[in-house]
Amino acid sequence: MEILDKKKHAIEKFNCGNEALNRYLTVQAGQDMRKKLSVCFVLNDDYTRDLIGYYTLSSFAINADAIPNTIKVSAPRNYSKIPATLLGRLAIDLKFQGKGLGEFVLMNALERAHDASLKIGSLAVIVDPIDKAAEDFYSQYGFVKCKDGHQMMLAMKTIATLLN
Ligand SMILES: CC(C)(COP(=O)(O)OP(=O)(O)OC[C@H]1O[C@@H](n2cnc3c(N)ncnc32)[C@H](O)[C@@H]1OP(=O)(O)O)[C@@H](O)C(=O)NCCC(=O)NCCS
Repeated sequence: MEILDKKKHAIEKFNCGNEALNRYLTVQAGQDMRKKLSVCFVLNDDYTRDLIGYYTLSSFAINADAIPNTIKVSAPRNYSKIPATLLGRLAIDLKFQGKGLGEFVLMNALERAHDASLKIGSLAVIVDPIDKAAEDFYSQYGFVKCKDGHQMMLAMKTIATLLN
């Protein structure tokens, strides 16, 4: 997968079935990258010029008391915020859904987040599922709900075992 390049990638044609995620790619992803708010990675078919899918990653901090009980944090009590990695958005074009590419793109994101965590501390990957279907998709890979809302998280230690 590669970093979004609006000159190369056919973002206007992308349609994952969710208007907010389509619009994010066409309108905001480039701006967010320029502002250093997130980095957008795309899966592109260079031959057909189809943009198959994308995801975004950013640094993040989670309130220590929002971490689910199933995730063990051995941080000192005075750490009110815990470093994490935000997988803010992830989508696959409708033409390519149901072929295992969502899983491929998710694994690529988790591997990238894990690699980065070897240099910049991060306890877990956090996702923001847009609906119940997205929640079900992430649950399959072990993501669990945070205590303070709808976000879900997967411990970096678990990701390390998933990748091996
Ligand atoms: C969710 C999404 C990324 C899945 O992509 P995909 O390419 O269709 O998924 P895959 O073919 O790789 O499927 C991987 C697994 O997830 C399951 N899955 C796929 N979509 C799912 C959904 N909506 N709900 C629950 N499970 C789902 C598949 O059954 C498969 O499991 P299996 O191997 O046991 O059969 C895609 O449907 C999408 O882009 N949806 C719109 C945007 C969205 O919801 N993004 C997610 C979070 S913001």
